[in-house]
Amino acid sequence: MIKTGIEAMSFYTPHRYISLATLAEQQGIDPEKFSRGIGQDKIALPGQDEDIVTMAAEAARPLIDRYGTDGIDTVMFATETGIDQSKAAGIYVHRLLGLNANCRNVELKQACYSATAALQMACSYVARRPDRKVLVIASDVARYDRDSSGEATQGAGAVAMLVSADPKLLEVGVVSGVFSEDIMDFWRPNHRRTPLFDGKFSTLRYLNAMLEAWRDYEANGGKSYAEFSRFCYHLPFSRMGEKAHRHLAKSAKADLDMSLALPGMEYNRVVGNSYTASIYLALISTLENAEEDLSGKSIGLFSYGSGATGEFFDATVVEGYQAHLFKQLHQTILEERMAVSYEDYVELWGAPVAQDGEELIFADEARGRYRLASINDHKRIYVDKHA
Ligand code: HMG
Repeated sequence: MIKTGIEAMSFYTPHRYISLATLAEQQGIDPEKFSRGIGQDKIALPGQDEDIVTMAAEAARPLIDRYGTDGIDTVMFATETGIDQSKAAGIYVHRLLGLNANCRNVELKQACYSATAALQMACSYVARRPDRKVLVIASDVARYDRDSSGEATQGAGAVAMLVSADPKLLEVGVVSGVFSEDIMDFWRPNHRRTPLFDGKFSTLRYLNAMLEAWRDYEANGGKSYAEFSRFCYHLPFSRMGEKAHRHLAKSAKADLDMSLALPGMEYNRVVGNSYTASIYLALISTLENAEEDLSGKSIGLFSYGSGATGEFFDATVVEGYQAHLFKQLHQTILEERMAVSYEDYVELWGAPVAQDGEELIFADEARGRYRLASINDHKRIYVDKHA
């Protein structure tokens, strides 16, 4: 059988963040509530000239620079922060990256889950067409109402993955376990910029979906718990991953070893929730922060999207994967950021959005190569600073 999976993957997050210690001080609560209770340290904040398109292009650029555009004939863009009800965000990215015109483009949605659907479909496609590659992108801005219980779990980021029949990083397993149920744990009607959610209920449904997906994975002939060297979870906040890991170990009647899941939480702790990108940020974090060589080791992954759909699947780390990581770049992206004050955060949070065809021109603030320069006549104008 043809092996398919992830040839390379990279992420991007904006250069501004607010420290959760600042938020705790402002709200007059113990900072440990966030650092330990929620397990988060920072919230990444996009500026006005950044959005899911600019973050996606930044995340994908290193892949294109290193591996080229040859063979890429499909872009799958997963997001729940859509900028248009009709046009796929990937079409802007397709132009910004200079991809071949003979390429299909589609946007996928199911809360935080849809990048996993994209990855699975991409693997199936390249198994049929091993000469082709799919660029899978997950990009989101997690934005909650201020002073809501979700505020501390905001964040923003994008992950880009090159999926091919030459997986240099991870071979994606064929077996997976899936689960869906119609619930209102978290949703965002078209007329709202922020989601509605039932926080505690959502955490319980997440854990239930994980066990249901795990049982389906087992029933479909998946690996046993003991065969996994690492686990990655969708991370709305890192403490959720800890709860998930404890829950799964208990259900598998295994000894709890949190070190199997912790390396995957390092990047998410300082980025915040990045919705569709979150589990893949955890996967990058796992590969880049593991203390030992993971070659040949199996990673178990649980992807969750409210509403809800969950999927448990596996990936095997390919020998020599280290040469295909972007660890230095990623660490620089995280280190070279600036903390903003609470007042600046409030201003960024409340920045005006285009309501009609008026012209909005945005200051050049994004640190990356791509930016949203303006919105005019209902059209978003993206620019490549290197063009
Ligand atoms: P909260 O009001 O912060 O909850 O909301 P809390 O008061 O229960 O505190 C949280 C934890 O901090 C508790 O620990 C406290 O004991 C602890 P736990 O009971 O969980 O073990 N704590 C402290 N620890 C140390 N020192 C202290 C201290 N004080 C308290 N001083 C909640 C938490 C998750 C509900 C909230 O953040 C929320 O509503 N978040 C948004 C929804 C969410 O993220 N849900 C996750 C599951 S659904 C999902 O993952 C999908 C999603 O990504 C969306 C999508 O799919 O598109 C959200």
